[in-house]
Amino acid sequence: MSDEFGLVEPQEGEAFGDEWEEIDLSDDEADRIAKRRDRDFDEFRIRMKDADQFKVEQSVFDDATFAAIYKLVQDGHIDAFGGPISTGKEANVYEALGPDETEVAVKIYRINASDFRHMRDYLEGDPRFEGIGHDKGQVVRAWVRKEFANLERAERAGVRVPKPISVQRNVLVMELVGVADDRARRLSEVNVENPQTAFEVVREYMRRLHRAGLVHGDLSEYNLIIHEGELVVIDLGQAVTIHHPNAEEFLRRDCHNVAKFFQRQGADADADSLFEFVTADEAEEEDEEDAE
Ligand SMILES: Nc1ncnc2c1ncn2[C@@H]1O[C@H](COP(=O)(O)OP(=O)(O)O)[C@@H](O)[C@H]1O
Ligand SMILES: [Mg+2]
Repeated sequence: MSDEFGLVEPQEGEAFGDEWEEIDLSDDEADRIAKRRDRDFDEFRIRMKDADQFKVEQSVFDDATFAAIYKLVQDGHIDAFGGPISTGKEANVYEALGPDETEVAVKIYRINASDFRHMRDYLEGDPRFEGIGHDKGQVVRAWVRKEFANLERAERAGVRVPKPISVQRNVLVMELVGVADDRARRLSEVNVENPQTAFEVVREYMRRLHRAGLVHGDLSEYNLIIHEGELVVIDLGQAVTIHHPNAEEFLRRDCHNVAKFFQRQGADADADSLFEFVTADEAEEEDEEDAE
C-alpha cells in the first residue's frame, strides 16, 4: 500500500489482543479542588467565567468543570485557551496552548447537555464499565475516561488518532491536528483526491482497531479528518469493545457509512466486503497470502 494519507505503522511490542483494561472511575483531584475552593482556584474560576469562549449556550461551565481545567493548567498540560473549534451536541472542542508552544485540543463535555441515556447504552455491556451506576456525573466521567483509553489503545494498534495527553473529569486533552489558520478538515468537507487509496487506509485502520478489540461505533466522513495529506480517526468516545452485545451491529453500521461515503467519492467500496475485511481473522489472512 502506498504511504499516501499517512498510513502509520503499528507500534512494536506485544501483539494486541481483545483483552480489556480496568478503567479507574474514582474521584479526580478536580472534584476535591471544586469542593475545597481555595483562593487561587476561586480567582481562576472567576477569570474563566468571564472569558467569552466559555459562555456556552447562555450558561457557563459548572465549577467542577473549571476545577478540571484548573488542574490541567496546574499539571502543565494547558497554558492558554484559544477559541472553540467545534461546539457539538455534547461537547465543545477548543484550541489551546500546551507546554513548549505546542498546540493541543481540549474537548469539554457539558454534563447537562450530555445525552445520558445514549451514553449508558454504550457503557452498559462494555466489560470495562460493568456496574456503572445511574449518576450522571459518573456516567459522563466514565465516557471521557473511555474516550481516553480508546485513543491510547488505537494509537498502540497503529491507528492514526490524536495523541491522548491527559484527562480530568469531563475534560480531555489531546494532540491538536492542524492549527488555527490551517485547521484539519472533516472528510465530509473536502474532495478526496484519491478516494480508493483513502478508503484502503480507513479500511486498514478499521481492521487494526478491530484486532485491538474495539469497534468505533460512529465512524463516517464526520469523524475522519484530514490534514496535510494525513487521515486521522477522531471521536472515539462511543467506541466499545468487541465484547459489547451490540458490537457487531455498530460495526455493520460503520461499514455501511464508510462504504457509502467512499462509493460516492468514486472508490470501489462495499459494506459487506468491508465488514469481511475488517473481521477476517489474522490466521486466515496469512493463509490467503501464502496461497497467492
Ligand atoms: N484533536 C483534534 N484536532 C483537531 N480538530 C479536532 C480534534 N478533535 C476534534 N476536532 C474537531 O472538532 C470536531 C468535533 O470533535 P468530535 O470529537 O468529533 O466531537 P463530537 O462528539 O462533538 O462530534 C471535529 O469534527 C473536528 O473538526
Ligand atoms: Mg464527532
